[in-house]
Amino acid sequence: MTLPSFRIQFATVAAVVVAAAAAVAGCIIHDGGAGAGSSSVGGNLLPASSLKPLRQAGAAAHKRIGTAVMSARLSNPKVKALVAREFDSLSPENEMKWEAIEPQPGHFNFDAGDRLVAFAAENGMRMRGHTLVWHSQLAFWVKGLKADALRAAMTRHIQSVVGRWKGKIAQWDVVNEALADGPTGELRPDSPFAVLGPTFIDEAFRLAHAADPDAQLFYNDYEIEGDSPKGEAAYRLCKRLKEAGVPIHGVGFQMHVDPRSWPSADQIRRNVERYAALGLLIEFTEVDVPVGSISGSIDEKLQRQREITRDIVGACVAVEKCSGITFWGVTDGDSWLNDAHWGALRGRGPHYPLLFNGDMQPKPIVAGVLEALEKPSK
Ligand code: G3I
Repeated sequence: MTLPSFRIQFATVAAVVVAAAAAVAGCIIHDGGAGAGSSSVGGNLLPASSLKPLRQAGAAAHKRIGTAVMSARLSNPKVKALVAREFDSLSPENEMKWEAIEPQPGHFNFDAGDRLVAFAAENGMRMRGHTLVWHSQLAFWVKGLKADALRAAMTRHIQSVVGRWKGKIAQWDVVNEALADGPTGELRPDSPFAVLGPTFIDEAFRLAHAADPDAQLFYNDYEIEGDSPKGEAAYRLCKRLKEAGVPIHGVGFQMHVDPRSWPSADQIRRNVERYAALGLLIEFTEVDVPVGSISGSIDEKLQRQREITRDIVGACVAVEKCSGITFWGVTDGDSWLNDAHWGALRGRGPHYPLLFNGDMQPKPIVAGVLEALEKPSK
């Protein structure tokens, strides 16, 4: 798509103004997209050499600290070194989704997933699998299948994918985002899996368990972290599955923060506790904290990001059955929110939502994570 020239001029002027403002504030700024890595760096960064690796601090608190990557990013030796140093859990950002792994019926692309699984093993990282049954990033051919054919496709998919990495993937997001947005508390009516009836979720967990009885199996969703109708629906769903003897072992709170509407630390902690009381593990599976909509200077935005993240990590630290926290990307240059389409969901960018800037330097948010891991709130 081509931008009209007046928009290009406006964008250029705006970029200069923003960059100048950030330079004055002594901060990190980069475009996070095509130019990621072109960061100017100022006093707001943390001295990397003085920081404990996150995975080391996490281990002391009995929490895995994870990141999601696209396998191609690991061709950069600096990214590889940073990921291996800081994280002890790895999630595939896109490589294990249905459209990527089984683009044609029965034809599986395991290579990218294999590379991630090998990297995790080489570096003593736990592997999370993401995701088996999801209405989005689904292979085109699956959409519109009639119930019998879809059931057969889902069965082959789960058996093949979970079977491929039996014993190597510790946790699977078996079913992702099955609940509708908004207040209905219903399953998504528009999911291709809806033709199987509401127990397609039960079926998926049973299939995954049969394929790898030692894997921990999760229901994963967004906007279920606090008090909301969707949060209640997720709790009812997980409770029903657990009480029905379905092999579900945990719930994944994605934690894609929207600072304009975000539950308090107390709400999050209470929610985590009630899942723990069901006997379920809790993982924070896709944390990012975009700052575009936070008011104030860039310094103030990054400090607020640090506080929000400290509270999130603190809620996990406070509950024994919360087993880990995964950030959805490594550097601000990698984030899905750099795509204008997705970024707009969080208001006006730039969002700088992750732990490290485009030059792979730690931001104040890293201190927030360490504070929570090292000084748990009572
Ligand atoms: O499909 C094309 C592909 O053919 C092409 O090669 C590629 C190169 O640009 O672009 C393509 O697809 C992109 C896809 O990621 C794979 O890279 C899409 O445009 C892009 O929109 C898509 O975004 C992903 C998004 O899920 C899609 O739903 C993000 O990278 C990924 O971070 C994001 O992750 C999801 C979790 O899986 C579930 N929870 C929400 C989270 C954020 O949306």
